[in-house]
Amino acid sequence: MDSKNTKIGVAGAGVMGSGIAQVLAISGCTVACLDLDASVLKSARKNVEEGRFGLQSAVELGKLSIEDANAALERINFTTESEELNDSDVLIEAIPERLDLKVSFWKEFDKTASDSTIFASNSSGFSISAMAAATDRADRFIGWHWASPAPVMKLAEIIRGSKTSQETVDKIVSLAKSSGKNPVVIADSDTKWGYVTNRIYFAMVEEALAVVNQGIANRDEIDQLMTDCFRWPTGPFGMTKGASSGWK
Ligand SMILES: NC(=O)c1ccc[n+]([C@@H]2O[C@H](COP(=O)([O-])OP(=O)(O)OC[C@H]3O[C@@H](n4cnc5c(N)ncnc54)[C@H](O)[C@@H]3O)[C@@H](O)[C@H]2O)c1
Repeated sequence: MDSKNTKIGVAGAGVMGSGIAQVLAISGCTVACLDLDASVLKSARKNVEEGRFGLQSAVELGKLSIEDANAALERINFTTESEELNDSDVLIEAIPERLDLKVSFWKEFDKTASDSTIFASNSSGFSISAMAAATDRADRFIGWHWASPAPVMKLAEIIRGSKTSQETVDKIVSLAKSSGKNPVVIADSDTKWGYVTNRIYFAMVEEALAVVNQGIANRDEIDQLMTDCFRWPTGPFGMTKGASSGWK
């Protein structure tokens, strides 16, 4: 599956959804970007146009021509109408990290979306097989975990559920590559939240909190030490802040 002429639905236009829509639109997909809240869609559009990692900034940095930026924006339809996502080739879900919300979201779309639509969850860590079990298309259900800010980070953590077909894996890997990401396919797990990246990241956060609680160093000091030691762009606490409120 290549980006050109591929129809994407992105559900949830918050921190992640707007960036995902932008990346896929730049790569040539047409994108229907859904949110229940019209004011979120307004901010999402503003973020795509003028945000720190948005199209205008990409043009200023010489990464994108003005024509390509305008064409990408034209390819995104910001909408509150869920029907507009029914004929997507791939439906990417980026709604809040609550299993009950995600399960009912997928149940509803399983009734209305085209049979051929692949369902891809950007969950940070819920079992893909558990979400897929709420649908009649477990073979066309996959995890595609992005990192924030989506336009910058290369992550494409692709999670194969117990029934995900090889064809689905191949299509999503190819789409991720054609949108400039580095896909790595991993196995699903139903024993622990977090796939690979967040399991390891949160183990570090737990240790960082223990260091704070033992009075060894404060949060800013820990962030400084970790960025200086490992050349990370931010430390464990800075990362949590950026992931929840965006990278202003
Ligand atoms: N923030 C991060 O750094 C990050 C990174 C990777 C993955 N994730 C995951 O991505 C998902 C979204 O996270 P976020 O930070 O973008 O959340 P967010 O709260 O910024 O955005 C979620 C949006 O979903 C909308 N929404 C809720 N129910 C909906 C529905 N049924 N249909 C359409 N829209 C709906 C909300 O109105 C909200 O605007 C979560 O599963 C999260 O764990 C987040």
